[in-house]
Amino acid sequence: MSMRAVAVYPSQRQVRIIDHPEPKIESTKQARMRMLEVGICGTDKEIVSFDYGIPPEGCDYLVIGHESLGEVVEVGPGVSKVKPGDLVVPTVRRPCPHPDCVACRQGRQDFCYTGDFMERGIKQRHGYMTELVVEEERYLNPVPASLREVAVLVEPLTIAEKALAQLWDIQKRLPWITPGDGRGRNVVVLGAGPVGLLGAMALTVAGFNVTVYSRSASHEDRDDIVSAMGANYIAAETHDVEQMANAVGRIDVVYEAVGASSLAFEVVKHLSPNGVFIFTGVPGRKGPIPVDTDLIMRDMVLNNQIVYGTVNAPPECFATAIRDMGAFVERWSDAVKRIVTGRYPIENALEHLSGKGGGIKNVITISHE
Ligand code: BGC
Ligand code: ZN
Repeated sequence: MSMRAVAVYPSQRQVRIIDHPEPKIESTKQARMRMLEVGICGTDKEIVSFDYGIPPEGCDYLVIGHESLGEVVEVGPGVSKVKPGDLVVPTVRRPCPHPDCVACRQGRQDFCYTGDFMERGIKQRHGYMTELVVEEERYLNPVPASLREVAVLVEPLTIAEKALAQLWDIQKRLPWITPGDGRGRNVVVLGAGPVGLLGAMALTVAGFNVTVYSRSASHEDRDDIVSAMGANYIAAETHDVEQMANAVGRIDVVYEAVGASSLAFEVVKHLSPNGVFIFTGVPGRKGPIPVDTDLIMRDMVLNNQIVYGTVNAPPECFATAIRDMGAFVERWSDAVKRIVTGRYPIENALEHLSGKGGGIKNVITISHE
């Protein structure tokens, strides 16, 4: 039996909808899912431009898709965490094989040391933009049915959740900060794409005063979504970085979600004492740019500042993302739903993967209930 899947053939520089063999449960701890929705992100766009992405060993194509929502249809006899009918969001990264990678050996492949991890839909493992998927139960995160409409946003939200978990760990260095409580502190979110907007929501739920600074070519509903959550929206078209920083006041945290390094290093100069700058964007490699490194290093030392990058997320962060998503829906149901600007059938996947469609988050609907 075969099923439809969206696949990239890097060696032929082609992206096609193909017939792909249906996966079967092969061990007692596996579950089979019917995929409902798969989101498209910047990583997918890079993969279909052949800048990123590696097919599984011995296969000339990679089935793409890593932001997903599935419904369990069948479980192996050893599965207890999920049952048929449950909604689930699977994690993306799988451990490297090296015995001395302590991170992977402890199930924290999001911190893999060797780089030999695999990622579903990205690196050496087929992804989720297809009809049926089989996975180990430990990689599945159950989602309440009440989140059906927004659960496809859980995976991109896990980026903010992992960033926040680390932020609280780092700020334990300041004894007056209560982990989890951002009240009275200002955060600037750079970028109003899905990662920026979802990050802004998570930061708002944590109590921070949030300002989203964006130079989105089209503002679409982005500023409305930001105001709905009670955060400020500042457009780069009307405020340069200096003016934005003056409007915000003390910048305790920057959550970068655009992948534009020149902008990031401009903003770093405005970080407050004891401030933290979080990178989540992956810039495309352009030429080198001039940056005043003496000034930045001097400020960082004299102000006890921290800059860190963060990628991927462990199951704990999927759990907090699912919990926060529930809080978002309770508070700003409309705004969260508006992050998904379009849902399209698999036949239209190619045009949206190429980025021609516009919108904030485009989602491929694989099957309906
Ligand atoms: C995914 C991560 C992945 C990263 C790098 C992101 O788009 O959300 O799970 O680790 O790309 O491949
Ligand atoms: Zn590893």
